[in-house]
Amino acid sequence: MEEQPGIVDLATLTAELRALRDAALPRIESAPDLAALEALDVEYLGRKGGALSGLMRGIGSLPVEDRPRVGIVVNEVREAVDTALAEARQRAGSAALDARLAAETIDVTAPARRISRGALHPIVETIERITEIFGQFGFVTYEGPEVETDATNFQMLNIPPDHPARDLWDTMYVDLEGALLRTHTSPGQIRVMHAERPPIRALLPGRCFRYEATDAAHASEFFQVEGLMVDEGTSLADLKGQLVEFAHALFGGGTATRFRPGYYPFTEPSVAFDIGCLVCGGPGCPACGQSGWMTILGAGMVHPVVLQYGGIDPERYQGFAFGMGVERIAMLRHGIPDVRVFLDGDLRFLEQFR
Ligand code: PHE
Repeated sequence: MEEQPGIVDLATLTAELRALRDAALPRIESAPDLAALEALDVEYLGRKGGALSGLMRGIGSLPVEDRPRVGIVVNEVREAVDTALAEARQRAGSAALDARLAAETIDVTAPARRISRGALHPIVETIERITEIFGQFGFVTYEGPEVETDATNFQMLNIPPDHPARDLWDTMYVDLEGALLRTHTSPGQIRVMHAERPPIRALLPGRCFRYEATDAAHASEFFQVEGLMVDEGTSLADLKGQLVEFAHALFGGGTATRFRPGYYPFTEPSVAFDIGCLVCGGPGCPACGQSGWMTILGAGMVHPVVLQYGGIDPERYQGFAFGMGVERIAMLRHGIPDVRVFLDGDLRFLEQFR
């Protein structure tokens, strides 16, 4: 208690309080920015060491009856300073905002930053188009595994071990007894027949593999879309009608089509399905080997043995199946001359499909 509370009277204290206020207000008024106002706030109203708290210490030495009166003056002064500070802060704040708005201009005519847009790979896009068309005929899309078994890829498709037809599919084997990379999507037929009861309308798109030297027309990795329909009374006429409708939907209503005899162990009879060459529209062009026709798929009536392997009674049900090469179709749709571009991942090629 080093401080001797001097003889403070009501009049003196009141005068001192008002003097404090009168000194503070013009300083607040002319403070240049928010930081200066903050400093004045601490200087006058700070709880510890503020000018106002300093004066209030004198209240203790006043006669008890004077204390409430001085309290009123203290509140008056505090409120005046406080209000002045608040108003000044608001002015300073909006001045700061004005300054920022003036400094930061946005040029709405400046060119926008480019958004780089991706696109579906033409193979994926072609598969989607094919499944969409067959979807309208009631076909449901399934997927089978890329690593298949000798049983489903060959044997249950009526291709026993050592059957000469195996030469049609140059197979890549996996280091696992009985496992191989599927050479076509046809094993999906067996899987769907095991999973579903007729009527079946299935579409099976997927990646296939063959041990094949790569050139403009061949790749060791490629895509097929398999189709399978099994029902009572299904005939070759149903297959033909369905495929012609499909070709017209995909390539246009005027596209010429033809069926040729074909051979597959898992269909009987088997056919090849051609469309009129889209490049020349007739004989005499390199795109179609001068025949005027391009083969887009193989098909046929599901062999009764295959139905049996699928657990379906061939006396009651018949079915047709087809398998098309997706690269072939994508090449025809987009006028692409070489299959290798599909797997190169070259953006100069892919960006054309955005
Ligand atoms: N899986 C045959 C192929 O690779 C195509 C096909 C599918 C043929 C279905 C007939 C029926 O070449």
